[in-house]
Amino acid sequence: MSLVKVLKIVLAVTLLALPVESLRAVLGDIVFQVEGEARGTAAAVFPHWAHRVRYTCYACHPAIFEMKAGANPVTMDAIAAGQYCGACHDGKTAWGVAFDTCNRCHFAE
Ligand code: HEC
Ligand code: HEC
Ligand code: HEC
Repeated sequence: MSLVKVLKIVLAVTLLALPVESLRAVLGDIVFQVEGEARGTAAAVFPHWAHRVRYTCYACHPAIFEMKAGANPVTMDAIAAGQYCGACHDGKTAWGVAFDTCNRCHFAE
């Protein structure tokens, strides 16, 4: 097994071991900036690292996401329709949108 593979597994296990409450936006995460007035939900965070250990860049770029922060008009309607995060967070490929999963994505302070 290559060192890179070992490191990827260590990273993945570390991330999985984190309790949800301890999640904070860290270096490399993308915090989605929300336009307009506060809407009672913390901004959504996309943990690039946690996804890069599982997927190649081409899994998302450019078909699902343009490779530029803020360039993708993500909304919950679009996610529910299977676009953007919803291409995978549909309850099958990855856990889906439900009232007990909102704060897995919306946790930026
Ligand atoms: C699971 C999906 C996914 C994968 C896999 C992925 N990305 Fe991204 N990437 C995103 C999302 C989501 C954004 C943020 C888009 C936005 O803000 O609208 C992003 C943004 C970016 C940006 C722009 C950052 C900025 O500050 O403008 C770059 C560069 C990038 N990705 C490179 C990569 C590279 C290189 C890989 C492979 C090593 C990769 N991405 C893998 C989803 C992914
Ligand atoms: C290409 C498929 C794919 C896309 C697109 C995708 N995800 Fe994920 N995501 C996954 C998978 C698979 C996991 C791991 C699921 C599991 O552990 O059950 C994951 C895990 C996560 C996690 C938990 C990370 C951790 O620390 O374990 C968060 C948060 C997350 N995704 C947010 C997002 C957001 C926000 C978007 C859209 C901007 C997005 N994802 C788009 C596949 C995807
Ligand atoms: C898989 C990740 C993910 C999950 C789960 C998720 N969201 Fe989102 N949500 C996003 C992203 C990404 C955006 C776009 C960026 C932003 O506005 O913060 C967004 C946007 C929003 C918005 C503003 C734009 C709009 O579409 O109205 C609201 C409000 C919102 N989410 C509420 C929720 C609620 C409530 C839940 C739980 C039922 C939830 N979200 C679950 C990722 C997620």
